[in-house]
Amino acid sequence: MKKINILSGKALAAIFSFALLGLLSINAVLSGEQSPKPIPDDVMKILNNSCGKCHNQGGSGAALANLNFTKWDNYDAVKQAKKAEAICRTITSGKMPPKSFVKKNPQVVLTEDQKIFICTWSKQ
Ligand code: HEC
Repeated sequence: MKKINILSGKALAAIFSFALLGLLSINAVLSGEQSPKPIPDDVMKILNNSCGKCHNQGGSGAALANLNFTKWDNYDAVKQAKKAEAICRTITSGKMPPKSFVKKNPQVVLTEDQKIFICTWSKQ
């Protein structure tokens, strides 16, 4: 009988700490990851040059549906964080700007420094 009591005490303690951990992580999400992520001017300058033709208002429909810099400020914090991550991912993998576009517009090629600069912002 006593053994069972000790066990259930431990079980309760475990449940309690899991609950506490859960609360802590919810709190971390609410306070940390959901803070807005504006695009600083120096980052925006690069993005305007290399991506603006398609991803600024008046650009291509399919591109705007995925990412619209003109509406960035209207995105909620979670969406901004996701899009910032996607920006870094697509420029690192070379998916963006699209190769066919780069061929005709060599001035949009991102330098390694520019990629690092953008990804540093995106991971902040
Ligand atoms: C020539 C037009 C064009 C240019 C320039 C361009 N994009 Fe795109 N982008 C698209 C289109 C079209 C899509 C949607 C279709 C797709 O995903 O391939 C897209 C989708 C995306 C997506 C969402 C897709 C995903 O995989 O998450 C991101 C992020 C993105 N672009 C970032 C960029 C960035 C950053 C640049 C500049 C470095 C850029 N794009 C330049 C046309 C463009």
